[in-house]
Amino acid sequence: MKVLITGGAGFIGSNLVERLLEDQRVRGVRVLDNLSTGSTENLSSFFEDERFEWMEGDIRDYETCVKACEGMDAISHQAALGSVPRSIADPLTTNAVNITGTLNVFTAAKESGVRRVVYAASSSTYGDHPALPKKEENIGRPLSPYAVTKYVNELYAGVYASLYGLELIGLRYFNIFGPRQNPKGPYAAVIPLFIKALLHNEAPVINGDGAHSRDFTFVANAVEANVRALFTDKKEAVNQVYNIACGEQTSLLELFNLLSANAGTVLTPEFGPSRTGDVVHSLADISKAGALLGYQPLVTVQEGLKRTLDWYRVNEKFLA
Ligand SMILES: NC(=O)c1ccc[n+]([C@@H]2O[C@H](COP(=O)([O-])OP(=O)(O)OC[C@H]3O[C@@H](n4cnc5c(N)ncnc54)[C@H](O)[C@@H]3O)[C@@H](O)[C@H]2O)c1
Repeated sequence: MKVLITGGAGFIGSNLVERLLEDQRVRGVRVLDNLSTGSTENLSSFFEDERFEWMEGDIRDYETCVKACEGMDAISHQAALGSVPRSIADPLTTNAVNITGTLNVFTAAKESGVRRVVYAASSSTYGDHPALPKKEENIGRPLSPYAVTKYVNELYAGVYASLYGLELIGLRYFNIFGPRQNPKGPYAAVIPLFIKALLHNEAPVINGDGAHSRDFTFVANAVEANVRALFTDKKEAVNQVYNIACGEQTSLLELFNLLSANAGTVLTPEFGPSRTGDVVHSLADISKAGALLGYQPLVTVQEGLKRTLDWYRVNEKFLA
C-alpha cells in the first residue's frame, strides 16, 4: 500500500509516518504539508528512507491535492488548523483549511482513484451534548468554529461515501498527546505547555478551577487506530466514525499532579479564567472502535505521560 499523509509534518502525522515506515505492508509514504504549524524537523529521520516522499503544498489548492494523490492507494488526512481558540480568533482561515481543504482532499481522492481516506475528526463535535461517556451517535450543538469544521468534514464524508463510493473512516480524537506536540505559540495544547513549564521550573497556568476533565490519549494509540482504519478489510468497519481515546477521565489538576510527580517538581499551579468554547468534561466510549476496528489503547495515560516527559527531556531544544 502507498499512503499519502496530509499534515504529516505535524504532531500526529509525523508519528504516523514513523509507524508506517516500520510496516512491511507499506511500499511508500508521501507527506503533503504546508508547514503552517508543522515542521520538517519532525520528519528529519525519514528523509533517507527511499519509501518516503516529501511534498510541500497547501490543501486549499485543489491541483496540489490531485498531484499529491497520484499513485496513492489510501490517504490519512491529518492536515487542519487545530485549536478552539484559534478558530474563535480567525474563523475564516480555520474554515478555509478545515472545510475547503478537506473537501479538496476528498474530491482529489475520488478523482484519482484512491480507494480509502481515513480522516482526523474531533471530540469537539460532541459540543454541548451532556451525556458521558460520549457515544458516536449522540452529538450536540458545536461550541466553536473549529467544532463546526470538524463536523462538516463528517457530513461530507457521509455524502462522498454514498454518492461516489469512496471509503471514508473518521477518527474522533480525544486530546492526543505525546512526542513532537508543539509547546510553542498561543495555541499550544495543555500537556506540552505543562511539561515546558515544569521542566523550566515554572508554575503552569490552569484554565478554570482544575476540575475540567479530558480523556487524554497517548499518540501511539491514535496512530494504531489510523493503521487499523487504513488496513481493515471488514466491510462494516468502513464509512463509520469512531471515538479514539483511552476511555479514562483525568482532570487538569490530576494531570498536573501526575506530571509533577514524574518531573520531580513541587510547584503550585496558578489558576486562570476558563476558556470560552471549551467543553467542561470529556470522556469517550471506545467500544465501537474496539468492536469494528479491533482498537484498544496500547498505552495508558500514566505511561504515556512518562514517555512524553522523557522525550521532552531528551529533546529539550523542542521546548526552547
Ligand atoms: N492533537 C489533538 O488532540 C487532536 C484532537 C482532535 C483532532 N485533532 C486533529 O488531528 C489532526 C492532526 O492534529 P495535530 O495535533 O497533529 O496538529 P498539528 O498542527 O501538529 O498538525 C497539523 C499539520 O497540518 C499542516 N497543515 C495545516 N494547514 C495546512 C494546509 N492548508 N495545507 C497543508 N498542510 C496543512 C500543519 O503544517 C501541520 O503539520 C488535525 O486534523 C486536528 O484537527 C487533533
